[in-house]
Amino acid sequence: MSASFTPPWSAKVLTLFPEMFPGPLKYSLAGKALEEGLWTLETVQMRDFAPDKHQSVDDTCFGGGAGMVLRPNVVDAALEHTMAQENKDSKRALIFLTPCGKPFNQAMARHYALNTKGVVLLCGRYEGVDQRVIEQWKEQGMEEVSMGDYILSGGEMAALTLLDACIRLLPGVIGKEESSANESFELGLLEYPQYTRPQVWKNRPVPEELLSGDHKRIEDWRQNQSMNITQIRRPDLWVRYLERMGRKQ
Ligand code: ADE
Repeated sequence: MSASFTPPWSAKVLTLFPEMFPGPLKYSLAGKALEEGLWTLETVQMRDFAPDKHQSVDDTCFGGGAGMVLRPNVVDAALEHTMAQENKDSKRALIFLTPCGKPFNQAMARHYALNTKGVVLLCGRYEGVDQRVIEQWKEQGMEEVSMGDYILSGGEMAALTLLDACIRLLPGVIGKEESSANESFELGLLEYPQYTRPQVWKNRPVPEELLSGDHKRIEDWRQNQSMNITQIRRPDLWVRYLERMGRKQ
């Protein structure tokens, strides 16, 4: 029997601006990993699914108001075409990027990176996407994800952020040594401060604990820093951290 081949984690992005991909990802770990074949990226131009000869993708919104809305038939045809190609056994997570979605976090990045075969990302533009096509695809398992409480010009920047956060978690993308930022965040704490040479810069010395060579002391200092910073800057994360710790005891 031949050894079974596991295809790499893969991303497909449905967008009106495929030139935006891989864009900035080329300059991060994700770009190197893409070159090395640790993940794959494809884009689908949604405009190709517009039925009319002008290939119009949007229209004015019912009820009046500024801005254009992506037409349901165009988005639906692009999704139908894409999802028809999905293999039953290796179905990827289908995600619509929208400020109305579930706020993205490290646990979600971890889930998409490690528990799915990849992602299909639907990027909206203009004022929005006709609600009926969103409902139609949510009934078939589409998730809505938000990158934060602000409005971007479209889902593309959000998609790039989601991909960057997921790809750094894929096996082989970063070494164990470099993964401390992921790890501390996954424990629910912010990262401790980092220093490099020189030992004193503009009268500011590096904390002496870090120069002690005593691993236990260094680890305790880092842990304390992480806890203090989290408590002061992110009381919301701190409360959750304490709850989690309490449950473990
Ligand atoms: N599209 C526009 N704004 C967005 C946001 N904050 N998150 C995800 N997708 C978006």
